[in-house]
Amino acid sequence: MYKELNILKDSNKILRKKSKEVEFPISNEDKDLIKDIINHLTFSQIPELSEKYNLRPGMGLAFVQLGMLKRIIVIVHEYEVAKFKEYVVINPKVVSESKELMAAALGEGCLSVDREIEGHVLRNARITIEGFDMDGNPIKIRAREELAIAFQHEIDHLNGIMFYDRIDPKRKFYADDEIRLL
Ligand code: NI
Repeated sequence: MYKELNILKDSNKILRKKSKEVEFPISNEDKDLIKDIINHLTFSQIPELSEKYNLRPGMGLAFVQLGMLKRIIVIVHEYEVAKFKEYVVINPKVVSESKELMAAALGEGCLSVDREIEGHVLRNARITIEGFDMDGNPIKIRAREELAIAFQHEIDHLNGIMFYDRIDPKRKFYADDEIRLL
């Protein structure tokens, strides 16, 4: 069942606030919302369903984008064509990151930003994240490439940072011999 989400636009100042650590157990409302977010992100990446429900494709969402300042992020990663893996991380922390940087060749997008923004966003090529699952169990995730970008983008949301804050206005684009472009 698809349930529509009210995703805030970046004109809303709450997106600039720092989200707060979540205490366990989390509420059933939060668990239901996490399931709705997983559905939304999955449907948005399946062409027939994104068209049916008029969804912009997106692989991640942070709770703040729904107006709740809780440190909860959800990512649905299409790791193979039409195969999805979902990640729910509560109170995520980056515990290690590669020195190597990279950027998405076409730039990044955000479900809270409904306009094109040009420029490369420098990200660590590999990161390790620790946090908790919905039931409060500790989890550790190693991510690289597209998934690593998604985690860094969503964790930024928890700290009030938008992806375009990280685009250098004096140096918007890099060549692929300067930085790895995905
Ligand atoms: Ni975003």
